[in-house]
Amino acid sequence: MRARAQLRSHPIHPMLVAFPIGLWIGSFAFDVAAIAQGDPSLAAAGFYAVIGGCAGAVLAAIAGAVDLFGVVPSRSSAKNRGYIHAVLNVSALVLFIVVAARRGGAGAMPDGLSILLSAIGVVLILSSGWLGGTLVYRNQIGVDHRYANAGKWRERTLAGWDQPVCNQSELADGQMTVAEVRGLKVVVGRCPEGMFAFSDHCTHRGGPLSDGALVGCTVQCPWHGSQFDIRTGHVVAGPARSKIESYPVELRGGEVFVMPNRAREPEKKEAA
Ligand code: FES
Repeated sequence: MRARAQLRSHPIHPMLVAFPIGLWIGSFAFDVAAIAQGDPSLAAAGFYAVIGGCAGAVLAAIAGAVDLFGVVPSRSSAKNRGYIHAVLNVSALVLFIVVAARRGGAGAMPDGLSILLSAIGVVLILSSGWLGGTLVYRNQIGVDHRYANAGKWRERTLAGWDQPVCNQSELADGQMTVAEVRGLKVVVGRCPEGMFAFSDHCTHRGGPLSDGALVGCTVQCPWHGSQFDIRTGHVVAGPARSKIESYPVELRGGEVFVMPNRAREPEKKEAA
C-alpha cells in the first residue's frame, strides 16, 4: 500500500530510520572504544551520536505513525506487527534519552550502566528493524503498485454511499480502485463480466486485496496468495477459508455506485 507520508511516491519513514539506526549503533561503538582507549574525544562523539539518533528517531516516528494509522490495514497481522514495531522504537528512544541525560554532556565518559542501556537500545532497534523489513517486504506497506495503462493510482474517501466510487471508464479489465466509505474500504474491480465491489479486507490475515492482482474475475491477495471470486466473494484458493464481503453495484450515467451490504454476514475470524 502506498505510504501516506511520502515525497513523490518515496516513503519518508524508511528514509529517516537510517539516522537512529546508524547513529545509535555508532554511539555504542564510540562509547566502547572511549572506555577501551580512555579517549574523551571518542566519548564526545558517542554523546553527539546519541543526540543525533534521538532527533532522527522522533522525525521517523512521526512519519511512521502517519503510515501506521493511515495506511496499514485495520484488523490485520501487519497492524499488530506495526504496533510492536512502534513500541520497540519508542522504547529504544526512551533508553537513549536516558543515556544522554545520565551523561549530561559531551565531556563525560560513559559509565557501565550507560553502556548497558545503549546495548539494550541497539538490540531493540535492530529487532524493530527486522519487523520493519517484514512490514515492507512481506506486507508491502509503502509499496506503490501500478497497473499497466492505469495512470495514477487513486484512493478515494466518500462521505456516504450516495457518492460514486468512480466512472466506469476509469477502469479497464483487471483493474481495481478502492474507496473508503464510513470507515469501510471497498474495492471496485472490473472483470470480463462487469463491475463488482467487495471488501478490501482479506479474510485470512487482513491483507489489502486492492493491492493484489485481478485476473479474470479472481482477485489474489498480495500477502499469502488467497484467491477470491469477486462476483460472489467465495474463496477460490486458500489459505483463506471465509468468503470476502460483496457489495451491490449500480451504474448511473456511467458513474459507479456501491450499495451498502444490508445482509452483512457476521465476521468469521481466523487465527492471525
Ligand atoms: S492475508 Fe493471507 S492470504 Fe490474504
